[in-house]
Amino acid sequence: MPNGNGKIINMQNVHKVYDTGKVKVEALKGVNLKIQHGTFAAIIGPSGSGKSTLMNILGCLDVSTDGVYEFEGERVDGLHHNRLAEIRNEKVGFVFQNFNLLPYASALENVEMPLIFKGVHTKKRRERAAELLERVGLGHRLTHQAIELSGGEMQRVSIARALANNPSLILADEPTGNLDSKSGGEIIELFEELWQAGHTILIITHDVNIPKRTERVIRIKDGLLTEEANGNGNGNGGH
Ligand SMILES: Nc1ncnc2c1ncn2[C@@H]1O[C@H](COP(=O)(O)OP(=O)(O)OP(=O)(O)O)[C@@H](O)[C@H]1O
Ligand SMILES: [Mg+2]
Repeated sequence: MPNGNGKIINMQNVHKVYDTGKVKVEALKGVNLKIQHGTFAAIIGPSGSGKSTLMNILGCLDVSTDGVYEFEGERVDGLHHNRLAEIRNEKVGFVFQNFNLLPYASALENVEMPLIFKGVHTKKRRERAAELLERVGLGHRLTHQAIELSGGEMQRVSIARALANNPSLILADEPTGNLDSKSGGEIIELFEELWQAGHTILIITHDVNIPKRTERVIRIKDGLLTEEANGNGNGNGGH
């Protein structure tokens, strides 16, 4: 298994230009980013600064137009979209602001979804989904449909789903954006617990409470990154 010397992410001089035909938008202007396995980081920046563009490239949902991107030591820029999809499905768990759950499927069925694509046997995947839902504190809601759950509970289901394939990286885009501050705080706590259990987690956010809790705070502005030490004195750009 490629390891990238402990680095899960290594981006060098990554550019992204959107060419709409009429205008070209340079959304990323030479991003350098190294992230070690086991990191808990927040990526923050104003609207239009390139956060979602960066997340899409980090999660192999989109490709850069220039620069080098290595994921766990494997060069992924320039890969065919089929191989990118494989990497994404095997190695990245996504958490979105709008949860992206199947509304009429149960919590269990939602978490089983990635395991169905992977061809895991019914009994095994049901056990794994139940185990993950217990892990996120929803053992008592296994058979509820997604629409019967609160926002905070829905986000827990989507975090359990993101964990289903045991991904190397969890990428979250505004995971607390649709939650009240209490359930948002509980979701941040859950991410913190997952990080303490060894997961690598990157959160893109406007929520001022998240950078207070992460090890690293990465700022993006006009398509370029800067990094600063955060309140924990642990925001280390030197990885
Ligand atoms: N598909 C696209 N085609 C053309 N331009 C795009 C496209 N997607 C994003 N952009 C432009 O690229 C820049 C960065 O957009 P991006 O969505 O990455 O910002 P963001 O930081 O996620 O903003 P927000 O906080 O509002 O979600 C913006 O100027 C945006 O208009
Ligand atoms: Mg965005």
